[in-house]
Amino acid sequence: MIRNEVIDSLMGRKSIRKYTDQIPSEEEILTVVRAGQQAPFAMQLGSVIIQRNPETNTFNAPVQFIILCDIHRMEKVMEARGWKREASNIHSLLFGVQDAAYMAQNMVTAAESLGMGSCYIGVAPYMSEKLRQDCNLPDHVFPLVILTMGFPAEDPPVRPRYPVEFHLFEEKYPEFTGEMVNRAMDEMDRGYLEQDYYRKANFMIPLADKSQEEKFTFDNYSWTEHISRKTAQWNRDPEDILKLLRICGLSPTE
Ligand SMILES: Cc1cc2nc3c(=O)[nH]c(=O)nc-3n(C[C@H](O)[C@H](O)[C@H](O)COP(=O)(O)O)c2cc1C
Repeated sequence: MIRNEVIDSLMGRKSIRKYTDQIPSEEEILTVVRAGQQAPFAMQLGSVIIQRNPETNTFNAPVQFIILCDIHRMEKVMEARGWKREASNIHSLLFGVQDAAYMAQNMVTAAESLGMGSCYIGVAPYMSEKLRQDCNLPDHVFPLVILTMGFPAEDPPVRPRYPVEFHLFEEKYPEFTGEMVNRAMDEMDRGYLEQDYYRKANFMIPLADKSQEEKFTFDNYSWTEHISRKTAQWNRDPEDILKLLRICGLSPTE
């Protein structure tokens, strides 16, 4: 693999969940957000709200950004041009999610280059109602994710990833063999076990079916079981997310 400063920074990044009290300067914050703005975009549908209260920010981070999928601003520009959005909400959302996410990830990389760390917090959509009130969000703005940021007060190891051949497919999508799946699972599970990740976090997702006996301990509970339990047991009702989108005026069937 080729190495240079940019690649090394990308390969060495890890989510940071503990921060020093040092407050990023206005120049650092502006630099991070400008680098975010410069991400590729479909329609510039990403916006960010900065929150600067460590007492209320997740992980007491000195700053956090609410990353917004912002279709309202596009409509303002269109209105000034005498147009009205007729593109469906699902279309606008699909591109809005991308614009906002690429912007956020540029901010992550820029922060890293300035010696800062960050962590995404996925609960934002589920806080839509509160965030609409707290942050004055108009209709057609959807809170996608929170991004905490500041100077690291921890130095966790780089977390494992699937082997590259489990992510990169040459021309055609492969038929996964049991061996490929096992190798990829092993890479992830061994990686997280070596870091004692779930024991240190003291967290194991409980089995929803109480009649099932828990067979895992922190000696063998690892990422593939964790992620499977999430996706097998949680977020089953599509109404949960549809309701949130409707609250934001973005019903995906309109
Ligand atoms: C959309 C999204 C939501 C996330 N939500 C959370 C979260 O709620 N809490 C948390 O501690 N980490 C969260 N993360 C961070 C991931 O746990 C982390 O990126 C992943 O475990 C890989 O670790 P690394 O970033 O250190 O490589 C989230 C990441 C993404 C992209």
